[in-house]
Amino acid sequence: MSPPRGLFVTGTDTGVGKTLVACALVRGLRARGLDAGAMKPVETGVGDAGPLDALALRRAAGDSDPLEDICPLRYALPAAPTVAASADGRDVELWAIRRAYERVIARHDCVIVEGAGGLLVPVDERYCMADLAREFDLPLLVVARASLGTINHTLLTLEVAVARGLSVAGVVISHGQGLLSGADAANLQALRDALGPALVGEIPLLAPGGEPDPGAIDLDALLARS
Ligand SMILES: Nc1ncnc2c1ncn2[C@@H]1O[C@H](COP(=O)(O)OP(=O)(O)OP(=O)(O)O)[C@@H](O)[C@H]1O
Ligand SMILES: [Mg+2]
Repeated sequence: MSPPRGLFVTGTDTGVGKTLVACALVRGLRARGLDAGAMKPVETGVGDAGPLDALALRRAAGDSDPLEDICPLRYALPAAPTVAASADGRDVELWAIRRAYERVIARHDCVIVEGAGGLLVPVDERYCMADLAREFDLPLLVVARASLGTINHTLLTLEVAVARGLSVAGVVISHGQGLLSGADAANLQALRDALGPALVGEIPLLAPGGEPDPGAIDLDALLARS
């Protein structure tokens, strides 16, 4: 089997576990001997400590790539890229993302790209995260949260992917919102049933700073679909 080109990690929302899952994917692929690189093409909410998602991804990928390649566009406002860029009085320089992506894929067997927010988040006025995934020609890994509302958010995300001609390699559910009530647990089971084999992993509630078990995500299924 030829090495996969990579995956575009999107989410049903912001704060659902994309960085946690993307880092686990990078580490898991590298543990299998694949030279996986990582990117967070645009990060917002960047303060004095730097782009925290990109820094975590860089660490997972072995700290070799320049941070400017992993995360070429950074903005201070914690908002959608087009909104955050405008608040800084800047344009979103898509060319900088494209050039950085070319440099990263030239150095690695495959690349795990973390989007910002979900698929319809605007990157600029005419270009959204789904457009970026399509331009990179990467299958999606959708991260969904475990709590109430997730059936709708997950199915909406999958419908948008289909409508925009994107392939979905799988869905990972992350339990970042804490322990579930009985109703939430029953709701989540309905999502698992609806997803069937598209569900490639579930991350239980981790201790702060904890990393998912290596086996939490079915890398074999993802590799077969990417
Ligand atoms: N399974 C889990 N157990 C414990 N904490 C989790 C879990 N999943 C996510 N979290 C926590 O939830 C928060 C959001 O996760 P993360 O940063 O990965 O989300 P994200 O989708 O990448 O967010 P953003 O949209 O800001 O990029 C983090 O503090 C993360 O550690
Ligand atoms: Mg993130």
